Amino acid sequence: MPISLHTPLDMHLHLRDGDMLKTVAPLSARTFSGALIMPNLVPPIESKEDVIRYKNRILETIGNEQFTPYMTLFFKPTYSRSFLEEVRDEITAVKLYPAGITTNSEGGLSGFDIDELRPTLEAMSDLEIPLCIHGETGGFVMDREAEFVPIYEKLAKHFPNLMIIMEHITTKESVEALDRFENLYATITLHHLMITLDDVAGGMLRPHLFCKPIAKRPEDREALLKVALKAHPKVMFGSDSAPHPREAKESPGCAAGVFTAPIALQALAELFKKNGASAENLQKFISQNAQKIYNLKPIQKEVVLTEEHFIVPKSYGGVVPFLSETTLDYSIHTVI
Ligand code: NCD
Ligand code: ZN
Repeated sequence: MPISLHTPLDMHLHLRDGDMLKTVAPLSARTFSGALIMPNLVPPIESKEDVIRYKNRILETIGNEQFTPYMTLFFKPTYSRSFLEEVRDEITAVKLYPAGITTNSEGGLSGFDIDELRPTLEAMSDLEIPLCIHGETGGFVMDREAEFVPIYEKLAKHFPNLMIIMEHITTKESVEALDRFENLYATITLHHLMITLDDVAGGMLRPHLFCKPIAKRPEDREALLKVALKAHPKVMFGSDSAPHPREAKESPGCAAGVFTAPIALQALAELFKKNGASAENLQKFISQNAQKIYNLKPIQKEVVLTEEHFIVPKSYGGVVPFLSETTLDYSIHTVI
């Protein structure tokens, strides 16, 4: 049976810049109505001018495709209320990275002192600007996200009207935190619904599956699947599609990031079907939940997927996609 997905949204996407932007942006723009664009460029997106110029570069790259880049700023604790008021209409969220925790995050935050953060976070709360967080501490790699949950809770408690999105959650601890605080939400990636650390490093090392946060244990994956498949209203799809050139992945110092954007809808359709979840739930996970959480009115798009085999390409312009050279059960038939 064909599946029609309406107005797909990707609420966590890395489009990069320059030639990489030209390679990857059209791939998302073809099938998604919009995406939340991450600001971790070099240098990061930190001013209104940066936001506007980057948005224009994205729009230039995608030609006539109907696609909205929902822009973000790279969080700085120095952002003033007047600055945020001025930039408000150009952005959908602000993204916070702990310093040095992932690709291009060196200028991130080095501590979570509430008093230090209060002026900026109160202003964001009053102006209804959501805060997206890469929630990992500098601890042992498998424990980093679970160790960050108390920080999420501290922020949620001190700023009860601030919308906080726990980005790309990978643990059962984060799933459990969702229901403890009204103002906590989460994005979930495709790859964290499919793989565990065993797939990354249990046999031959697979650099194209290496990302931050690293894939965790089977029970974590189960917890993520449970909320995604039932389309828990506080979770939404965010691919965290993070392209790096093949040379940067197949290297002694492998860059973190899994490139999933062009195959995400096909693979999600298969995953939901195999797990006995309904197309309605996939629809909510891929669009309605995000529309409600972020109060978005996206461009209408309909993506029809049919049960025809799709062999995932080896590479898209020098970037190796997730599940490359494997056969998926669903193909994209038409996009209207
Ligand atoms: C992302 C990237 O490459 O920009 N990498 C990743 O492993 N997910 C950054 C991020 O979201 O952590
Ligand atoms: Zn990311």
